[in-house]
Amino acid sequence: MKNQEEGSYKIKLLGISGSPRKGNSLFLLEQALEAALEQFPGRVQTETYKFGQTPFAPCDACGAHRRLNGECRVQDGFQDLRDKWLDADAILYSVPVYHMGIPGQVKCFIDRLGNSLGYYFSEFLPGEPSFHIPRLMKVVGSITQGSHIFAGQEHAQAYLNTHAMIMRCIPVPGDLWESYIGAGGWTEVRPQVTALKALIEEGKPDAQIAVRSARSLAVRAVEMAMIVRSGVAAIQTFLSGQPSYLPLLQKIEKGTLRHPLEKKEKE
Ligand SMILES: Cc1cc2nc3c(=O)[nH]c(=O)nc-3n(C[C@H](O)[C@H](O)[C@H](O)COP(=O)(O)O)c2cc1C
Repeated sequence: MKNQEEGSYKIKLLGISGSPRKGNSLFLLEQALEAALEQFPGRVQTETYKFGQTPFAPCDACGAHRRLNGECRVQDGFQDLRDKWLDADAILYSVPVYHMGIPGQVKCFIDRLGNSLGYYFSEFLPGEPSFHIPRLMKVVGSITQGSHIFAGQEHAQAYLNTHAMIMRCIPVPGDLWESYIGAGGWTEVRPQVTALKALIEEGKPDAQIAVRSARSLAVRAVEMAMIVRSGVAAIQTFLSGQPSYLPLLQKIEKGTLRHPLEKKEKE
C-alpha cells in the first residue's frame, strides 16, 4: 500500500450538522472542525453537510435495496449524504437534542444507511452472507446540545456511538473531564440560533465546556483515523485475505470508496 507514510495523505473529516437551522449545532461543529485543522495543518480536509431543508424520507421497509445492489429505491437527500459518508475517514455528527434523542431526519438517514449498505458491498464480499456490513473503520464522534441541562444530550451521544458500532466504525470521545462519551452542551434555556455563541461571549462556563469538548473530540477523531490508516498499512497482507476489509483497503488505495456497480458503469 503506497503513500501511507506519515504526512503523505489527508484525513477526510466530514462534519454533519443535524439541525434544520443554521444554529447551535452548526456553531459547535464549526468549532470542532476548526480545531482539527489547527491541530493537523495540511493533514485534514474538512467538509460540512447541513441537514437543512433537504427531505429525507423514512425507511419504508420496502426491501428493494436487496435487488438494487444496496441502492435505496427512494431518491432524495439520502444518496448525496451516503456518498459523502462513505468517502470520509472520520465523521462528526453535531445534532440538537430532540425529545431526548436525535432529530428525526438524522434517524431517517441512519436507518436507510444501515439497511442498504448491508447489500451495497456484496460485490466486494463473494462467499459472504448476502447481508454484510464490512469493517469500514470510520471514526465517529458525537456532539449533542439541547436547550436544557440533563435533557437527553448523553442519550443522543450513546445512540450515535451505537450507530457507529453497528456500521463497523469506531466511536471516539474527546478528552476528560469535559467529554465523557462525546461532546455536549446546553443553551441555558435560550431558544435563539446564536444562543451558544452569546453564552461564550458572556464567558459562561458550560458553553465553554461544550466548545472545548467538541474541539478535543475532533482532534481525537482525526488522530484515531490516522492510527487506523497506519495500522491498516502495517498489516495489509493479513487484512487483504479477509473480505470484510476489502472496501476499506480499496478506499485507502484509491482515495475514495464507490459502489462497485457505479465504478463498472464509468469504465
Ligand atoms: C422538536 C424539538 C424537541 C426538542 N427536545 C429537546 C430535548 O429533549 N432536550 C433539550 O434539551 N432540548 C430540546 N429541544 C431544544 C433544542 O435541542 C435546542 O433548541 C437546540 O439548541 C437547537 O439546536 P440548533 O440551534 O442547532 O437548531 C428540542 C427542540 C425541538 C424543536
